[in-house]
Amino acid sequence: MESLYRKYRPRTFDEVIGQEHITHTLQNQIQNNHIGHAYLFTGTRGTGKTSVAKIFARAVNCLSPKNGSPCNECESCKLLQKESDINVIEMDAASNNTVDDVREIREKVKFTPVGVKYKVYIIDEVHMLSTPAFNALLKTLEEPPEHIIFILATTEVHKLPQTILSRCVRFDFHLVPVNTLVKHLKMVFDKENISYDEESLKLIATAGEGSVRDTLSIADSIAAYCQGKITKEDTLSILGMTDFELMLDFFEKLREKEIGGILSLIDKIEKEGKNLAVFAKDISKHARDLLIAKSCDDSNEILNLPDDIYARYKAQADAFDQKDLIRYMQVFSGAENELRYTLSVRLLLETTCLTALSGEDVKKN
Ligand SMILES: Nc1ncnc2c1ncn2[C@@H]1O[C@H](COP(=O)(O)OP(=O)(O)OP(=O)(O)O)[C@@H](O)[C@H]1O
Ligand SMILES: [Mg+2]
Ligand SMILES: [Zn+2]
Repeated sequence: MESLYRKYRPRTFDEVIGQEHITHTLQNQIQNNHIGHAYLFTGTRGTGKTSVAKIFARAVNCLSPKNGSPCNECESCKLLQKESDINVIEMDAASNNTVDDVREIREKVKFTPVGVKYKVYIIDEVHMLSTPAFNALLKTLEEPPEHIIFILATTEVHKLPQTILSRCVRFDFHLVPVNTLVKHLKMVFDKENISYDEESLKLIATAGEGSVRDTLSIADSIAAYCQGKITKEDTLSILGMTDFELMLDFFEKLREKEIGGILSLIDKIEKEGKNLAVFAKDISKHARDLLIAKSCDDSNEILNLPDDIYARYKAQADAFDQKDLIRYMQVFSGAENELRYTLSVRLLLETTCLTALSGEDVKKN
């Protein structure tokens, strides 16, 4: 079966999520016939660089673009949708990084496009080119023929030489906010007739960490496991994540220094067959998340949590003293290293909680 992320590759600029700062600019350029010859797309993996490059390649050649997007129906769009079409050339710089590879491009760009207006070269992972290859590319970028457009894409823009940077119009693809990912997942699941609960959507979107491709491939494996009926319980166990609720509850008990409550909660988690080592790791992450929520402006830009969950993190963070959060983070991340060596995760976890509460070192093991 075709994977979800392939099936739902956006075909127009409007279908691209979370990158409006880029898609709107490109749409305007096409509508005003003000197209550049060298673009640089940067940003984390799975955020839309290749997809936008391909949409753009069709849009500049489309015979009746709609709102700056390709119509996907005209002769030219149809031609360019074929993987084998010679007018859109995709080159993976990771495996074609020599000066000869780039020279070949320079030879080819002399030829005019066939049946369309522009030839588009998409060079993926462009930071992998060798220095001589960069120099060869630079020559072409300096005087690109009228009918050629270059789109360079990279996840590691800091590895590009300044000479290349200064010749390209640069667009930075952002991590996609979790709320936008939730909406996207909903659309996909509804179309696929997959049932789900709201909590699972939030968990999957959070696990995707801002990458649309990662979010969809996580969704794929969970849907396969759940045979089309996604539940929060299955999602949590597949992702090996700790429930937001459980973490909030645990920290409430820490804040109130309820030693009995903490020990029973640990007992409950173990009896339910959950992985205590995962839980221990998630505690230090939660302490860090609370510290960010408490200390940073626009903290959800960093945390990228669903709105309602973020509101509860923030409320919890505000109820804590900053110095306590710092101590929890230190104590629990220290314990993370010991997890590998300990004979009893449970005992280590319990001792660590007591250390965190007392604020002084209690002997471990
Ligand atoms: N902004 C987005 N809007 C909608 N879907 C997206 C977006 N970004 C990625 N996707 C989904 O992820 C898949 C892969 O995206 P794409 O190849 O464009 O990512 P990329 O940024 O080029 O990643 P890489 O850095 O790994 O090359 C697409 O087929 C699509 O399903
Ligand atoms: Mg790509
Ligand atoms: Zn068209």
